[in-house]
Amino acid sequence: MSTGKSEELEHQGKVALVTGGARGFGRAFGAALAVRGARVVLADIDADAAAATAAELRADGASVEGLACDVADEEQVNLMVQQITASHGGLDLLVNNAGLHSAAFNKPSEEIGVAGIRRLFDVNVMGVLICSLAAKAAMRGRPGGAIVNISSSAAYANRTAYGVSKLAVRGLTASLAREFASDGIRVNAVAPGLIFTDTIRKELPAAEAQRVLGQQILQREGREEDVVDAVLHLLSSRASFVTGETVRVTGGFALSL
Ligand SMILES: NC(=O)c1ccc[n+]([C@@H]2O[C@H](COP(=O)([O-])OP(=O)(O)OC[C@H]3O[C@@H](n4cnc5c(N)ncnc54)[C@H](O)[C@@H]3O)[C@@H](O)[C@H]2O)c1
Repeated sequence: MSTGKSEELEHQGKVALVTGGARGFGRAFGAALAVRGARVVLADIDADAAAATAAELRADGASVEGLACDVADEEQVNLMVQQITASHGGLDLLVNNAGLHSAAFNKPSEEIGVAGIRRLFDVNVMGVLICSLAAKAAMRGRPGGAIVNISSSAAYANRTAYGVSKLAVRGLTASLAREFASDGIRVNAVAPGLIFTDTIRKELPAAEAQRVLGQQILQREGREEDVVDAVLHLLSSRASFVTGETVRVTGGFALSL
C-alpha cells in the first residue's frame, strides 16, 4: 500500500475526509494524508471495512477514524460532516473518491438497466455534489480548503454510462471551482487510467488490461502511488493557483489535445 514518497508533515493540523476510504485508492489517500500529519476520516458505505481500515492505519500512530456513510444520501452526508465538525472543529480537505466502477456498471446501458444507471449517477455524480456542498459549509473560514474529485480516463475515451458519469465529474469540478472560490476553496479532479487496485485486479480480464496498456504512451502498469502523488499535490499549498482542472494520471492513455 502506498503512502506516497515524501513523509514531510505538509498536511499537519488539517482535517481530511476521504470518501470510499475503506479500500483501494481511498485507503491509499487516507494513509498518505495521515502520514503527512492530517486527522483523517475514512467514510464508506461498508461500515465494517471502514472501521477495520481506520484501526489498521491507527496502529502506525496516525489519527484515522472510519465512519459509515452512503455519499448519495444527503441526510447521512450532512450528519457525518456535522459529526466531523463537532469532533475536529471543521474540515479542510475532501477527496470525493467513492465511486461505482465494478464490471457490473461498466457495460452497455441496456444491460445495467435504468435503476442501475440511476444508482451509478447518484453515487458517482450526485455523491460528489452532495459531499462538496456539505464540506463547503464546514470549510468556510478556514484557510487552504481544497477538494479533489476522482474522475477517470473513461471520461475521455469510454462511451459507457460509467464514462459519462466520470465526464460529469470533470464538468462538476469546473463549476464547483467557480462557485467555491469566494470561500477560498479550490476544487480539482484527478482522472486515473488503469490502476491495479483490488477491485480491478479481481475483475478485469487480462486481455482488457493488455488492450489498455497498448494505448498508453508509457509502457508500464499504473500504480496507486502515481495517483496518490497527484492528489496530494492538488490538496497542498503547492497547487494554490490551480483550480477547476482535471489532471490525467494515465501514462498517456488515449491522449488527445
Ligand atoms: N482503479 C482504477 O483503475 C480506477 C481508474 C479510474 C478511476 N477510478 C475511480 O477511483 C475511485 C476508487 O476506485 P477503487 O479502484 O479504489 O475502487 P474500490 O471499488 O476498490 O473502492 C471503492 C470504495 O468506495 C466505497 N463505496 C461505494 N459506493 C459508495 C457509496 N455510495 N458511499 C460511500 N462509499 C461507497 C466501496 O465500499 C469501496 O470501499 C472510484 O471513483 C473509481 O471510479 C478507479
